[in-house]
Amino acid sequence: MSIVFDEKKKLFYLHSKRTSYIFGFLNEHLVHIYWGSRLDTVPGADACVPHCSRPQALYNCPERRDLQKDTLPLEFSTFGNTDLRNPTVHIQYADGSTISEFEYVSHEILDGKPSLDGLPSTFAGDSGVQTLAIRLSDKIKGVDILLYYSVFEDKDAIARHAEIVNRGTETIKILSCMSANVDFADCGYEVITLCGAVQRERYVQREAINFGNKIIESRRGASGHQRNPFIALVRKNTSENSGEVYAMNLIYSGNFIAGADVDCYSTTRVYMGINSFDFSWRLCTDEKFVSPEAVMVYSDSGIGGMSRIFHRLYRENLCRSKWALSERPVKINSWETALFDFNEDTLLALAQKGKRMGADMLVLDDGWFGRRNDDTTSLGDWSVNYEKLPGGLSSLADKLKAMDMKFGLWVEPEMVSEESALFKMHPDWCIHVPGRKKTYGRAQLVLDLSRREVCDYIVNTMTEILNSADISYIKWDMNRNMTDVGSSALPAERQRETAHRYILGLYYILDTVTAAFPDVLFESCAAGGGRFDGGMLYYMPQIWASDNSDACDRAKIQYGTSLVYPVCTMSAHVSRVPNVVNGRITPLKSRCDIAMMGQFGFEFDPAKLSDEEFEYCKNAVADFKKYRNIIHFGDMYRLSSPFETNIAAWQFVSQDKNEILLIVFNIMSEVNGPFHILKLEGLEKQAIYRDDESKLEFSGALLMQMGIHFRNTADFSTKVLHFTKD
Ligand code: GLA
Repeated sequence: MSIVFDEKKKLFYLHSKRTSYIFGFLNEHLVHIYWGSRLDTVPGADACVPHCSRPQALYNCPERRDLQKDTLPLEFSTFGNTDLRNPTVHIQYADGSTISEFEYVSHEILDGKPSLDGLPSTFAGDSGVQTLAIRLSDKIKGVDILLYYSVFEDKDAIARHAEIVNRGTETIKILSCMSANVDFADCGYEVITLCGAVQRERYVQREAINFGNKIIESRRGASGHQRNPFIALVRKNTSENSGEVYAMNLIYSGNFIAGADVDCYSTTRVYMGINSFDFSWRLCTDEKFVSPEAVMVYSDSGIGGMSRIFHRLYRENLCRSKWALSERPVKINSWETALFDFNEDTLLALAQKGKRMGADMLVLDDGWFGRRNDDTTSLGDWSVNYEKLPGGLSSLADKLKAMDMKFGLWVEPEMVSEESALFKMHPDWCIHVPGRKKTYGRAQLVLDLSRREVCDYIVNTMTEILNSADISYIKWDMNRNMTDVGSSALPAERQRETAHRYILGLYYILDTVTAAFPDVLFESCAAGGGRFDGGMLYYMPQIWASDNSDACDRAKIQYGTSLVYPVCTMSAHVSRVPNVVNGRITPLKSRCDIAMMGQFGFEFDPAKLSDEEFEYCKNAVADFKKYRNIIHFGDMYRLSSPFETNIAAWQFVSQDKNEILLIVFNIMSEVNGPFHILKLEGLEKQAIYRDDESKLEFSGALLMQMGIHFRNTADFSTKVLHFTKD
């Protein structure tokens, strides 16, 4: 049993193999007691929760002035009764009042894990999972809140979400609803977040948090390139391989917020959920609002330990595609090669060359439909451009099949070009506020997925496309953020629901389409990595990590992304030099080695390669196919960070622990520079590991304690070492 309720002491224990999360009652208050390494029992909330009477602090009960909610570590908080920090839930009632008083009513311990209505979430699969559901109620207004905690016993993770049920007679308005809240009784933490920009996604940022609020958020209608829905608190001495980490990741693709607030009593509150900015939700009698899921991971073995927990969990208990744990095709993609300028012959020639290099699939990117010869037109008109493809998609797919190549296709179904038949027919189908000028991103508008008829149009369109030819893969793109937020189909009082309803509509579409085509491999994309989150991974097991495939920048992007997301979820292609995004020239080998740490592919025309380069790519695909199981499904250890040093290094240990792959990326050469020592991890001390290349043998102890030496002698060069256990 991973969840235990101690009736006598009124304590809830949520145990996984190596961790415990404990909370309970201090009088009527639901207080947080402990989150950390496994701790089997504690004496009780009174003894464990620091509390005292603070001057002028507010209290609920005159007999217990020492129980001041504002100073207690709470499991759940509402606005209006003595806790003045950020509330877990904030509701407005029909009388205009915004204060609530939620009291414990009951709890239930369930085997397994219920799914979340309309939202993606982790699933139990073959893992041992138990779920605790706690019911709280505001008796005056008849509103219930259910707090769900699912414990993945063997994975050391807890998934949390909240549900608000209106059992009263009046419609209520939810002003905010966090998915998880954890109060720490101390402070002095540092915060790690993943921040960046378009083509510079998910750079690692670590900073001390002092008195005040550290907030990361998205208000752009998508999780975004700029901030990822991830936050981790670490101790000052926490490193990649040691020390404590408390992490939260939201399984949601829209506007989110995560905060770490240090208050005047030096306590720290961490929370995560849907962003309450420009949000509210009207909940009628008997309706339920479901928050997205927050996944919480504690590690006492550093940031790397945290990542390996997320990786295992997301590979096995989040990505639900049948491809999640399988080897996937190597792609050759038409985008950077041809942009909009191609025809069936040029595509077949590209495929032919790709095939000779070892690719398994041609991906036809943007430009195959309507009159799409640039990015100003035709989104929404998903009919084939017969000038470019006289035989349509099926002829191309059949010809590819005849050469033993799979066929993949790009779509951007959530968008509409103003210059399109769809827009002419349904000008009100885009997100907009009637009477106001529209604003643009890439000359396109966002379809209003809060409307069911728009979602059904997309489902039908995708169904037609997928039925029209033998399509093995879809690259599902989304190239602009949301502005002019409003829906012409929603009443005035529901306008602030638009952005969340859009995401619910998107999930409905993805649920329907991916379920109808279970064999198709779906890849998510959002102008590169603008929606790299657990919500998308639930439906699509891989995501185009960035439009920047320069090896040097990609090393950082993929390093940062790997803090949370498994390597097998990152799509990574080898592109031409000078790089189209930053003009940098890096060696072909480095581009191949960095792309190997992802779902490999090519994004250039092999016809432009020299014979030697062509041969090199052929060997690179063969190496990728040889090593991909270790890289994608083994354990990853980050040995050196490109954000901190002049060398980036990753180590992968195969699931059976018999193979090690080391990928080292030297950033800038250092004339007469030092040796960088990389100490390997996760090996058996006594075992002997043989380096394939030098044939030298090393003990696990030597590799871990003495390490291997590298010197940066050439800019942007890589070294790959493969060891086999004797
Ligand atoms: C986005 C994607 C690219 C490519 C283009 C096509 O920018 O990130 O990979 O598919 O759209 O327009």
